[in-house]
Amino acid sequence: MIKRLLVLSLFFAFALPVLAQTTDADWWRHAVIYEIYPRSFGDSNGDGLGDLNGITEHLDYLKELGVDGIWISPCFPSPQVDFGYDVSDYTAIAPEYGTMADFDRLMAEAKKRNIRVLLDFVVNHSSDKHPWFIESASSRTNPKADWYVWKDGIGADKKQVPTNWISLFGHSAWEWDSKRNQFYYHMFAKEQPDLNWRNPEVQKAMYGAMRFWMDKGVSGFRLDAVDTLFEDPNLHDDPILPGKKNAYGDQDVEHKYTQDLPETHDVYRAMRHVTNQYPGGVLVGEVYFDTAAQMATIYGKNNDEINLPMATQLGFTNKRDVSEIRRKLDDLMTLPATQTALMVFDNHDNARSWDRYGNGLNDAQRAQFAKVVAATLLTPRGSALMYYGQEIGMKTTTPTRREEVKDPIGRTGWPKEKGRDGERTPMQWSNAKDAGFSSSDHPWLPVPPTFKQVNVAAEDKDPNSVLNFYRAMLKLRRENPVFRDGDYKGVNENNSNVLAFTRTSPQGTVLVVLNYSDKAQTADYSQSGKEARTLLSTFSKSDGAQKLNALTVPAFGVFIGQVQ
Ligand code: NOJ
Repeated sequence: MIKRLLVLSLFFAFALPVLAQTTDADWWRHAVIYEIYPRSFGDSNGDGLGDLNGITEHLDYLKELGVDGIWISPCFPSPQVDFGYDVSDYTAIAPEYGTMADFDRLMAEAKKRNIRVLLDFVVNHSSDKHPWFIESASSRTNPKADWYVWKDGIGADKKQVPTNWISLFGHSAWEWDSKRNQFYYHMFAKEQPDLNWRNPEVQKAMYGAMRFWMDKGVSGFRLDAVDTLFEDPNLHDDPILPGKKNAYGDQDVEHKYTQDLPETHDVYRAMRHVTNQYPGGVLVGEVYFDTAAQMATIYGKNNDEINLPMATQLGFTNKRDVSEIRRKLDDLMTLPATQTALMVFDNHDNARSWDRYGNGLNDAQRAQFAKVVAATLLTPRGSALMYYGQEIGMKTTTPTRREEVKDPIGRTGWPKEKGRDGERTPMQWSNAKDAGFSSSDHPWLPVPPTFKQVNVAAEDKDPNSVLNFYRAMLKLRRENPVFRDGDYKGVNENNSNVLAFTRTSPQGTVLVVLNYSDKAQTADYSQSGKEARTLLSTFSKSDGAQKLNALTVPAFGVFIGQVQ
């Protein structure tokens, strides 16, 4: 007896904490991470810009929504040319967003609510106002001379660009600097010079910045434009894509010598080495791949690189085309359990899913379809990213005149490329002034007129709202272990209107049926079982039993049921 007690107490003393820790360290494998664009979420001081205290004020809302973590888009000092993606100090807080004390308070309050915090680490480039760049540009011999990608010009006058490389923000990726009489390289705006990752001192400084934030308790980073870190040292021209022009009118090229170079993997491993020192540390990769096989390369041969690459290929299908969605989902589900995809439908760089998938639909139908999107995002295997406002069905509100545009790419690319302001408008909290986002007369982007109807306060009261669907979906996902590690299996794979699949774990099988069409669809799902008890549905009551041999799902309906 005494021996048994001893074994038991040893178990509680040693094994349990280890078990708890293991689960904790792996939180990211089944997480829901909510992206906050800090400028647009909550303005606590009435200056028209969102800020850190504005995020802290809304943590209870996020807790109730049921997310595991937040990713804050860049909140570091920045001239804000690209709204924070041009960092001028990697280890401080932008004064317009608050102080370090505000950040620490946000961390402490998030921790109380068990919400993890991820920061956006802009690794490829800094701002041209970063002291590193100012020093680097001051001469060819200063201590930071080699911290950026400097090259001599070519041609008789040595003033022609070294390669045909094109910036993703339009026009040549080379900018002439008259002090150094050289060009510097910028994959994005000219105010965002590329750091030279071949320089060990740059690497050391960046890993140091990562440690600075991890020591403050953040759980990791979303790595910005992570596949653009290196360029071909031999300066080959990129292959021309004949007859193709980009939105800025440039002859388009394949970014063969400026993107996804093999050297990036060494950096991913080194970064992972940093985050691995902290339990639960995670690296999210901003990548745009087409297939799971391509994604697989970024986890690393020993799964020692990026933890969570964004599975953008699924959520940016942009068509209510079941066959296409199924093909991509089935492909993603071939990733082994050791490799977790981060599902995503919305972010700050793309029109909102409300509009991308809403073609030809009225608002009521779009609201229905927003629930189909929620279920497609949150029921397959993997982790998931949400973007503020997605949970209430915020729409894209694109500027109608060039003079209104804030986003640099919208100003360069107008009218073909209208920029990304439309998906960055203030969060719609209520039908009060500025949608409850701010008390300012001039929020940095106009609040869309839809805020009168589409807002958190109104949707909170409506049991059928998109918001309440998200809450229920997140609760189900959290509470039912099948969504964590259950196997995925496509069902009725020839049906071109309805996406259906099962998730199966030792606890049982759950059937997910999502009607992507604007008509009711009846089909036979009895291969999965005779009946299913409703877990979550847009048309049948919770706990109600549904026969599976002829299940009718209304237009844009969602059915999730426990197979009996
Ligand atoms: C990707 C970010 O998501 C985008 O917003 C930014 O403009 C570019 N990287 C440059 O940092």
